Amino acid sequence: MWRIFFALLFLQTLEAVDRQNFKTCEQSGFCKRHRKAVLPTGYEVVTDSISINGTGLDALIKSKDSTLKLSIVSLKDSTVRILIDENGESLRKRYQPLDALVDKEPEQQKWKKTKQDATATKLLTTDGNRIVLHYKPFRVDFFVKDKIVSSINSKESLFFENFKKKVLLSDRENGFWEETFKDIKDTKPYGSSSVGVDIAFVGAKHLFGIPEHAESYSLRDTKTYEPYRLYNLDVFEYETNSPMALYGSIPYLVGVNKKRSVGALWLNAAETWVDIESTTADKGSLANEVLDSDTKPRQVPQQNVRFYSESGVIDIFITLGPQPNDIYRQLAALTGVTPLPPIFALGYHQSRWNYKDQKDVKEVHEGFVKNEIPLDVLWLDIEHTDQKAYFTFDKDAFAHPEEMVKDLADKGRKLVTIVDPHIKKDSKYYIYKEAKKNKLLVKDAKGSIYVGNCWPGDSTYIDFLNPEARSWWSEQFSFDKYKGTSNDVHIWNDMNEPSVFNGPEITMHKDAKHYDGFEHRDVHNVYGFYQHSSTFEGIKARSNKEVRPFVLSRSFFAGSQRTTAVWTGDNKADWAHLKQTIPMLLSISTAGLPFVGADVGGFFGNPEEELLVRWYQAGAFQPFFRAHSHQDTKRREPWLFSDNTTDAIRTAVKNRYSFLPYWYTLFYEHAKTGKPVMRPFWVEFIDDEASWDEDRQWMVGSGLLVKPVLEEKIKELSIYLPGKRQVWYDWNNHKARPSPGAVQIPVDINTIGLYHRGGTIIPKLSEVKLTTKDNQNQPITLYIAVNQKGDHANGTIYLDDGESYGYENGEYAYWGFTFKREHDYLHTITNKNLDKKGKHDSDVYIDKIVIRGAKFYPRNAHIFLDDFSPEDLDFEFNRENFVMEIANPGAFVTREFRIDIHS
Ligand SMILES: *[C@@H]1O[C@H](CO)[C@@H](O)[C@H](O)[C@H]1NC(C)=O
Ligand SMILES: *[C@@H]1O[C@H](CO)[C@@H](O)[C@H](O)[C@H]1NC(C)=O
Ligand SMILES: *[C@@H]1O[C@H](CO)[C@@H](O)[C@H](O)[C@H]1NC(C)=O
Repeated sequence: MWRIFFALLFLQTLEAVDRQNFKTCEQSGFCKRHRKAVLPTGYEVVTDSISINGTGLDALIKSKDSTLKLSIVSLKDSTVRILIDENGESLRKRYQPLDALVDKEPEQQKWKKTKQDATATKLLTTDGNRIVLHYKPFRVDFFVKDKIVSSINSKESLFFENFKKKVLLSDRENGFWEETFKDIKDTKPYGSSSVGVDIAFVGAKHLFGIPEHAESYSLRDTKTYEPYRLYNLDVFEYETNSPMALYGSIPYLVGVNKKRSVGALWLNAAETWVDIESTTADKGSLANEVLDSDTKPRQVPQQNVRFYSESGVIDIFITLGPQPNDIYRQLAALTGVTPLPPIFALGYHQSRWNYKDQKDVKEVHEGFVKNEIPLDVLWLDIEHTDQKAYFTFDKDAFAHPEEMVKDLADKGRKLVTIVDPHIKKDSKYYIYKEAKKNKLLVKDAKGSIYVGNCWPGDSTYIDFLNPEARSWWSEQFSFDKYKGTSNDVHIWNDMNEPSVFNGPEITMHKDAKHYDGFEHRDVHNVYGFYQHSSTFEGIKARSNKEVRPFVLSRSFFAGSQRTTAVWTGDNKADWAHLKQTIPMLLSISTAGLPFVGADVGGFFGNPEEELLVRWYQAGAFQPFFRAHSHQDTKRREPWLFSDNTTDAIRTAVKNRYSFLPYWYTLFYEHAKTGKPVMRPFWVEFIDDEASWDEDRQWMVGSGLLVKPVLEEKIKELSIYLPGKRQVWYDWNNHKARPSPGAVQIPVDINTIGLYHRGGTIIPKLSEVKLTTKDNQNQPITLYIAVNQKGDHANGTIYLDDGESYGYENGEYAYWGFTFKREHDYLHTITNKNLDKKGKHDSDVYIDKIVIRGAKFYPRNAHIFLDDFSPEDLDFEFNRENFVMEIANPGAFVTREFRIDIHS
């Protein structure tokens, strides 16, 4: 019966997303109540309840309906936490997803000064920020250098539904005690316990974040539109330009301002909706705060954001920046960073639902070798299992998994297998038996084991909220349990929103029960987070921490970056979806999760050759680079097309591999700074406001600008070069262009817009081999792009063994390169160890140096490998393009050198 059900569902959704399956705000009781609440809701601070200690402030706030407990805590590094919860004994504990944080109790910081008066309390932080708690009405303002930047409850929308005993069914409007959607009833034995409030971003022209939505990068005003929804859902074929919820949720956004950007993390794992009002400061209660001798409130942009969550508490972290680098460091301190991935994960991944059997895998593998297309990983989707029982291989099709893995590993390649959180309900399946016996499964509202429909038919679901379930799950990856696997097998966690085919909105019933008495509604958005983090721990543990794990997850939450990469789920083979990848990946990156990608080619449907080629070209410059497709699509291995198409795909994949040293360095730097790898323009060009909301282009690190071809059959590609007083070089012909400004370049089958930013140095492989492993330790070319003044450029490189944890014990090298104009007749290129703790002495050498923007006429060049015996270097100089190329300088990356260029 489930098969029929699924087949029907599938037919519908192949055309387009079936909106009927998913709620609108109007169909979600609490969303509607919040959105329609009469404002002001009338909360005031109970003044004699205020108590201040060294790092925090506690007070009660009160309206005619309820009294709540407020605390404001100063955290390190210009971060403030605002917590609002029920006062005293509530009927039930409210859930807080504290595991999303690196540190469940983030370190507090002492106030510098506090001052309480009749109308407000002023708190001055050690970092020099000011927080003002207004009593009547209740409002919390945040000032950076005496300018107001943010405010909580300035619209007086604080709305908090306390748990209460069910007395009269009629005492609240529809949806409070139970709710029905598409014939599925959600029982609410404890009533509704929703929470919501507004946060103003004063001076912010744009807001970015709150992924995952197939929307523009800059968040839009929702006044006459649906609010953005955060509720992890399996949406079969999602629409572009829609605020509908998708697979993952990170309740974080940033308000960007030239001088003072502000971030806000709304730490709540329940279904959440976000309304945005784009306005100016004269329109609301903050007008007086903005007004000063040279600021007119009506010229100050303001974004008012309202978050509403179905349950939990109000737990807001405001990060006060003020600069983009500060914003990322502060977010990283809260929810963490992606640890250095194994380098193979940055190579190209080939997936399909499904590679049918070992022979198929072997042939595909050989196809890459034969066609000389680089590849690091082959993927196996659900059909590789013994009837959808994860942790097993189909006994016929994959009879000898060790052999298959060994074939791949012998050539330096890896396998990724899928392991989903739904567990086939089958008394003969060991995973099910153990999970049941150890009581590790989610329960339904009545207390029996929750059974839903998923790939195996009747399925049960691991209760990852239970710490015992998590450690049990991690153990399942040990080599003696997950037979056929080795260190060369890594894991894909799909369907972990969780997907339940016959559940409300294709997910779990909200009244299902988890560990510690919580309902699914409380923990929904963090469910997948717990699955992929326990998977990660399992992979790490199985080899006694010998190799770094790679995990891919579809569902995610704040903090997911610490243990997984993510992709944008079931997209479609059309141009709109190709375009949509850019704002989606930028938005996830903005929210702190850098290892992101989209199915190259589109999951549903068959891409025309031109689209496929363009998708490869774009995907090659996105952090996670995997082709994947639905089982009903035509096979699409790169050699199955016309030769020109195969050639263009090969060129794109090789292009990716050639930049591997740069990608790897960027991931290392992300782990140190929190900065994303795929960067939106505001992070790099805060002085160029026009570029901030860019949706079609992005930066890879700070040196490389990418603009793929996103349109069919175009003859010219237009590229915007951002930043004030910068110079950019066309990657291919070295031509210099000033910015800000636009350029047009002619388009052919291999075109991708690539610009090298003046002032940066990028290390690139001189030649590309077919795996990341074979490319380790290969010679590099140093591309130097001289800055606009002609006097400087610098860059970095990170090297290690690419797979182990040796780097934690000093087995790495992190070096910098500098190009400098010493005086009119001398320019130098030097390298320098940037981190003396790194002891790795690598054999990687520089076999070529390309200087772009060399505005001098070199007479001779020589290299000093020690202080006294310079060696002459051969070079060529192109006077038209000002490009100098030094061949074979004989320099090693991790041994000091100096090159003198005399002009
Ligand atoms: C000060 O108050 C804050 C907020 O309630 C609290 O988190 C913190 O533990 C308190 N510090 C001490 C030393 O009691
Ligand atoms: C390659 O050539 C074929 C046949 O001329 C054409 O159909 C196809 O679209 C071309 N490929 C690309 C990527 O343009
Ligand atoms: C590179 O140069 C920039 C601009 O002068 C400087 O801010 C940065 O710290 C330098 N980076 C390194 C690694 O030396």
